[in-house]
Amino acid sequence: MTGVAIIGGTGLTALPGLEISHQQTIQTPFGEPSAAAVFGLYDGKSVIFLARHGSNHTLPPHKINYRANIWGLKELGVTHIVAVAAVGSILETMRPGDLVIPDQLIDYTWGRESSFFSDNLTEVTHIDFTHPYCEDLRQQLIHAARQVECQTYNHGVYGVTQGPRLETIAEINRMARDGCDIVGMTAMPEAALARELGLCYAACAVVANEAAGRCPIELTMAEIERNLVTGMQNVRSLLTKWLELDTTITK
Ligand code: HPA
Repeated sequence: MTGVAIIGGTGLTALPGLEISHQQTIQTPFGEPSAAAVFGLYDGKSVIFLARHGSNHTLPPHKINYRANIWGLKELGVTHIVAVAAVGSILETMRPGDLVIPDQLIDYTWGRESSFFSDNLTEVTHIDFTHPYCEDLRQQLIHAARQVECQTYNHGVYGVTQGPRLETIAEINRMARDGCDIVGMTAMPEAALARELGLCYAACAVVANEAAGRCPIELTMAEIERNLVTGMQNVRSLLTKWLELDTTITK
């Protein structure tokens, strides 16, 4: 059994450096996850990798079966999830290529299957979501980030939009007023579902671009992907250091 999973987002549909041992397609009561779970050794540690948008990056954020992804990882014995996600920066100081370990989020998504506690219930369940990210895992990532050379922010409010389109200037201005520092499309319901199943979940957000209206040029996928190349190198260094340092998780 492997306790650690990395969910890769845009720019990380595979984990370079992962020595793959096997892959497993999982069936869940909620359907099939985005891709087969990839098992392997990363820097000598057992890790499961899951490509959130599918192995060919064909699933947009609002079509992802988040419930199957999280349920499937739990079924495989995962206890800790590091979710990697590309985001836009709303806060001026956060630059493309920087990493953010968010500590809060605001959910602007709609119409997504966002709970395991929806059907055939014997009682209604409300999880505590005061702190949406696992603080212990967040601190481990922050600790690892200090030891690699990349600009990392230890706090951040992640505003989660529905997508797949990017935002308008007015939407970003509103999100800034709400207190959001970064904007992305996948943290919800992923984080809440992990909490519902009692999994320790933290995110490593990679700034791919300045958000709409914060950026002097038109936002294109090409630009986002270019910035993600550096950002994902930073993510890989951080993950390697984290796995090397960590002693509290059974891997
Ligand atoms: N907005 C929403 N999601 C994103 C962005 C953005 O600007 N960049 C990368 N993911």
